Amino acid sequence: MTTELNLTGRRALVTGGAQGLGEGMARALAAAGATVIVADLNDDLGSKVAEAVGGHFVHLDVTDDASWEAGIASAITQAGGLDVVVNNAGIEITSLFLNLDANDVRKMLEVNVLGTALGIKHAFRAMGPGGSAGQGGTVINVASVAATIAFPGISGYSATKSAVDRLTRVAAMESGKLGLGIRVNCVYPGLVPTEMGTGLANDMVTLGLFDTVEAAIGGIVEQTPSGRLGTVEDMADAVVFLASDQSKFINGVGLPVDGGMGM
Ligand SMILES: NC(=O)c1ccc[n+]([C@@H]2O[C@H](COP(=O)([O-])OP(=O)(O)OC[C@H]3O[C@@H](n4cnc5c(N)ncnc54)[C@H](O)[C@@H]3O)[C@@H](O)[C@H]2O)c1
Repeated sequence: MTTELNLTGRRALVTGGAQGLGEGMARALAAAGATVIVADLNDDLGSKVAEAVGGHFVHLDVTDDASWEAGIASAITQAGGLDVVVNNAGIEITSLFLNLDANDVRKMLEVNVLGTALGIKHAFRAMGPGGSAGQGGTVINVASVAATIAFPGISGYSATKSAVDRLTRVAAMESGKLGLGIRVNCVYPGLVPTEMGTGLANDMVTLGLFDTVEAAIGGIVEQTPSGRLGTVEDMADAVVFLASDQSKFINGVGLPVDGGMGM
């Protein structure tokens, strides 16, 4: 048994890798030895992260089947194979039920649910037997603590993240039944002050749920046994673990990385 998480020789694609949690995951996977492919809509930031980690960039819209087809093909050509797919890209649009906007909910369903489902599809096709990478591997989906708690103002988002959890379980089962040799797990990150996380705290005030941003963050910390917000590194470490052989008998689970907030 090795004690260090070592991903040398693995090729890992991270969607939404241009910033925030995805950028942290790209950096951590590369630090563990993997060749990283940053996949994002944001070419400018995505290319910079790819360059910083000595990896590759592919333009990829997770909501678009053809974009996945081309993105995965390009990733495999550039990196020489594919072993890990992290379905991290996601969006959050807050609202009270009283003011729910159908288009906002549709947008979250497209990116968070359809985007993850298509990511699983293309990971399976590429990494399964006979695929262009074809050696098996791991898929890690990014859900949220929002899938496990009832927090006001994020109904649509929470629903999409609960769906990511279910996609994960069915995908793990299907992979097993079909003998694809691909493990599928998800993480439930707690609140991390990325662009999305900071936006959520601001929105809590705009929606009238808290008086100040500090009070909103304080409320979240109060609900967290570890007594703090999460960091990008906290989330990235969990993803490296799930990508590694040290998690080889962990399959079809949702791992809370939330300091206990969602217990
Ligand atoms: N930040 C948090 O507190 C938090 C907590 C729980 C879960 N999450 C989840 O973690 C993931 C990353 O969150 P973040 O905070 O880094 O968000 P972020 O907004 O900082 O970054 C999201 C990234 O996804 C990319 N993206 C958006 N739509 C895309 C699409 N259609 N195709 C490809 N890329 C696309 C963006 O360009 C951006 O680079 C999301 O799935 C989010 O729901 C975040």
